[in-house]
Amino acid sequence: MALRVEERHEKLIEDVKYLKMNAPKTEGETESKEVGTENTHGQLSLDLFKFKRTIARGTFGEVKEYTSIRTGGSFAIKVSSASLESENIELRRLHALNEMFINDREIQNRMLIKHKHTVRFFGAFKDETTIFIVLELMSQTLRQVMKVNGIMDEASSGVVVKAVAKGLQHLHRLRVIHRDLKPENILLSHERIKIGDLGLATTETGETWCGTPGYQAPELFRQETHGTPADMFSLGVMAHEMLESSLPFSGEYWKKHVIRSNTLQYVSPAEFSRHLKTLMEGVLNKSPVKRMSADDVL
Ligand SMILES: Nc1ncnc2c1ncn2[C@@H]1O[C@H](COP(=O)(O)OP(=O)(O)O)[C@@H](O)[C@H]1O
Ligand SMILES: [Mg+2]
Repeated sequence: MALRVEERHEKLIEDVKYLKMNAPKTEGETESKEVGTENTHGQLSLDLFKFKRTIARGTFGEVKEYTSIRTGGSFAIKVSSASLESENIELRRLHALNEMFINDREIQNRMLIKHKHTVRFFGAFKDETTIFIVLELMSQTLRQVMKVNGIMDEASSGVVVKAVAKGLQHLHRLRVIHRDLKPENILLSHERIKIGDLGLATTETGETWCGTPGYQAPELFRQETHGTPADMFSLGVMAHEMLESSLPFSGEYWKKHVIRSNTLQYVSPAEFSRHLKTLMEGVLNKSPVKRMSADDVL
């Protein structure tokens, strides 16, 4: 397990190198103006914000709504604390370390990404135990929308798929793989649809098992080499879920066709239009090489 942390660290250093080379140079100035740090030498700190409410408790801490004292603007701040409930101090330390790496990765990935369909990143700061990531405030997750609306028709789910595919196209052009696409990580606000939670995003292909069962591409689950096509599979899973209110592959099916053999095959429900069938079978192809890319979808 210690090795995995080291591996992560090495990868992180590589990522940082890559991102530093590609990061837009003027970003810091424009960002600080919006957050209200222009008179504090661009230094972000919690003193600049007023707490409003806790939005969600996630895997790596909490997401809270704050307003900027100087500008009055609203923000979501992802607060990841190193303290964990575990009884075992070694475990606690390891988790904290992992958490820091994941969040550092999120910060580094976000520096480069600015797109209509990705949640805007304004900056980050930390103290000894906690990392704060300042983000554009969104109003709800796709999961919440799905719960309220139930089954969505081809037209409205198509709008979401197209927006997410556009966001992915941008990420993939930057060689960033999201690796945890699911309805909880797609955020909506005033008709805007954006990809959030870059906590597991990476700029390299790899074999690390990560993501969320049910949404993972088979190659990711099987710990085979995975790259940007893994995100397209997750997009297909989300599309199916919006249209049918269920996941495309049951646990039993997954056991048989992904764990015991590599024979997964998606069969579209009969009521899908021809266009939708081609799309769904294209993105849910078990082979990452044959799978449709974001460019193919758009
Ligand atoms: N920018 C945001 N605006 C509003 N809510 C957000 C924002 N980012 C995250 N959230 C909420 O917090 C939850 C957890 O955030 P996320 O970044 O996905 O962290 P985790 O790594 O814990 O999954 C999301 O599912 C969503 O409900
Ligand atoms: Mg999340």
